[in-house]
Amino acid sequence: MVPAIPRSEWMLDPALSFLNHGSFGATPRVLLEKQHMLQNEMEAEPVRFLEREIFTRLAEARRRLAAFVGARTEDLVFVPNATTAVNAVLRSFPLKSGDRVLVTDHAHNACRNTAGFVCAQSGGEVTVAKVPFPIRSSDEVVDALLSAVTTRTRLAVIEHVTSPTALVFPVERLVQELESRGVHTLVDGAHAPGMLPLQIDRLGASFYTGNCHKWMCAPKGAALLWVRQDMQESVRPLAISHGATSPRPGASRYEVEFSWTGTDDPSAYLSVPSAIDHFASALPGGWNALRARNRSLALAARDLLCAALEIEHPAPDDMIGALVSVPLPLTAGEFRPDVLQRTLFEAHRIEVPVIHWPKPPHRLLRVSAQAYNSLAEYEALAAVLREKVRNAL
Ligand SMILES: Cc1ncc(COP(=O)(O)O)c(C=O)c1O
Repeated sequence: MVPAIPRSEWMLDPALSFLNHGSFGATPRVLLEKQHMLQNEMEAEPVRFLEREIFTRLAEARRRLAAFVGARTEDLVFVPNATTAVNAVLRSFPLKSGDRVLVTDHAHNACRNTAGFVCAQSGGEVTVAKVPFPIRSSDEVVDALLSAVTTRTRLAVIEHVTSPTALVFPVERLVQELESRGVHTLVDGAHAPGMLPLQIDRLGASFYTGNCHKWMCAPKGAALLWVRQDMQESVRPLAISHGATSPRPGASRYEVEFSWTGTDDPSAYLSVPSAIDHFASALPGGWNALRARNRSLALAARDLLCAALEIEHPAPDDMIGALVSVPLPLTAGEFRPDVLQRTLFEAHRIEVPVIHWPKPPHRLLRVSAQAYNSLAEYEALAAVLREKVRNAL
């Protein structure tokens, strides 16, 4: 499989095999140029741009993003990243002493830290549900979370696509089961927009966040927070600003407050519609074709890596998107920075993360599949791994 969109359309270093789109995304040149044009406009007349026009400009960008992720515009606001959204929700949530916040052991560390922080402040407690990996079916995720719910569980943070293990969790089922038990759900969809088809409105979650700078390839610092209408009154941004006392006709306090959290550069948010349009026309079939192609490439990469490592598939196909993690054989050695990750980068020019999960000496290798990647890159990685397995990694 050759790149769906030539690699030269990205800024990526041509000397590298870049297999870590998942960490921070990567943005095509044309979208960065678009962002620079917005910045030029802002600098030509900062007051017009940031005072007179910003709310209308943001509303239009929110409208386009909302349509892309299946949401109502009034329920969706921009935040710089998923971490900020998770913080806004958790730090606004009315936790009392003894209340529990449920997370999984596959959670992104930043989000787990936020849960720990708000629990420490309120006298609450974090419950960690243990989800197996390797995993046989998504039923195991549902069982792990539901069996960890107690009468004190108020909120569950569930990943749509997990970071270390790269699993697509069955969020539809999880949200339905948890909300029906009176547990509010915050879906951490940091990897979901652009990787998975979304209908956020239909999920029924209390809160949802997703990054635009990962799989939508928007400029860095663009993410969404979606809050169900009945919860919007309680969610406040991390920075309280003018919106707390300046209502705007036809807009909720939630929309107004999140639209201005102090002077900043909104060009990444305003570039999101261009990212949506770019990939809609960059290849035949647009976004659906790109998602399907990236997933096929990820599955092919998984097959190559598992064969090289002489292991079974660690997860069923229906739990895979455009990211794949495979367990590495146990080995002694240096873990921080990981010696294998360093060798792959320094000796083979392959940028790919080796993740310590659940903790050393257990390690996972995670590969991403994005439009600029080709099958040959995973073949090259697999060849290096085969050699390493022969020499006990
Ligand atoms: C599942 C998950 N949640 C949250 C984040 C944090 O995203 P950001 O750094 O954009 O806030 C990540 C980042 O990789 C992630 O994988």
